[in-house]
Amino acid sequence: MNYKLLGRSGLKVSELCLGTMGFGTEAGWGADKETSFAIMDTFANAGGNFLDTANVYKLGTSEKIIGEYLQNHDRNYFVVATKYSLKDNTTNPNASGNSRKNMMRSVEESLKRLQTDFIDVLYLHIWDDLTPMDEVLRGLDDLIRQGKVNYAAISDTPAWQVAKGNTMAELMGWSQLIALQVEYSLIQRTPERELIPMAKHFGMTVTPWAPLGGGVLSGKYLRGEQGRIKPESKRLDDRSVAITKVVVDIAEELGVSASHVALQWTRSQGFSSIPIVGATKVSQVEENLKVIDVTLTPEQQQKLDEVSKIDLGFPGEFFKEEGVKMNSFGGFYDRVEKR
Ligand SMILES: NC(=O)c1ccc[n+]([C@@H]2O[C@H](COP(=O)([O-])OP(=O)(O)OC[C@H]3O[C@@H](n4cnc5c(N)ncnc54)[C@H](OP(=O)(O)O)[C@@H]3O)[C@@H](O)[C@H]2O)c1
Repeated sequence: MNYKLLGRSGLKVSELCLGTMGFGTEAGWGADKETSFAIMDTFANAGGNFLDTANVYKLGTSEKIIGEYLQNHDRNYFVVATKYSLKDNTTNPNASGNSRKNMMRSVEESLKRLQTDFIDVLYLHIWDDLTPMDEVLRGLDDLIRQGKVNYAAISDTPAWQVAKGNTMAELMGWSQLIALQVEYSLIQRTPERELIPMAKHFGMTVTPWAPLGGGVLSGKYLRGEQGRIKPESKRLDDRSVAITKVVVDIAEELGVSASHVALQWTRSQGFSSIPIVGATKVSQVEENLKVIDVTLTPEQQQKLDEVSKIDLGFPGEFFKEEGVKMNSFGGFYDRVEKR
């Protein structure tokens, strides 16, 4: 295992993050406590230290399982990331959303479930489109000053809001957002439009969630195996199936598993990327950890890019047009070294 610095910080995290949304058997799927412990053991024994959870995963069971595990393991070894925003109580209007009130309440609850005095990385989970960004950044900064949180990060939020937040934090001397969590995989590339270029600009690490498309890109559904993705899911539509077939072909060429090809693609896109990989079985985490030894050839990268390509929309597609670049920049466009 190698380590990466998480965004513009000195925090060292393993190059793979363990997704723990499946810790707990609520909602009819997931790993029981013993299996979750074994998954964390396997991950940590391979050098993994970066765990991803949220207040709402399995109605709090994911955090509770991690909390119990940490009682018998070195808390300081692990980098525990959790999130606030989503409801964990339906009768209190302030028990959800991005407000300072919910942030403070949710963090206290998470600390209890995690049985710890501090959270390493606190993500805003999903943008609520209601709370002002300065309220969010100031609240996160206060939690950091109180020692309850070490680093601030953000997930599922429009790029312009994140850019505004980080610019404001820099001007105000507040802690900046160091990681950006987005759904990103061969079947979900739309963050390439605005979010990923924004993250690169601010030196944020991108932590792709569902890098296996929830398991689809492992090829198991093509083999007729079962998992939590329902047949009617968009993740199993014609486009996703076509992409998965190319992933499987390349895996066969390399003699590795399809999961390795899909994960490696998210790790080699020219920006700092630490995929958050979920697992509900020890065998899955054992297999996924081997991705660190896998390399894709330029031809294989190109095949994957081609089958999964998206329309960048405006202004991305407009800007890409040769005529626009060459005519509008006085012939200098290709003579300038790019950042
Ligand atoms: N910020 C957000 O809004 C957000 C949203 C979703 C997830 N997340 C985070 O991202 C993490 C990962 O997301 P995810 O679990 O949805 O997607 P994922 O990592 O793409 O898929 C994980 C699932 O794929 C299957 N799987 C994993 N390895 C496999 C292998 N080698 N062979 C066959 N199947 C395999 C398992 O599903 P089965 O159990 O069906 O076998 C596993 O639960 C979550 O745990 C969570 O921490 C964040």
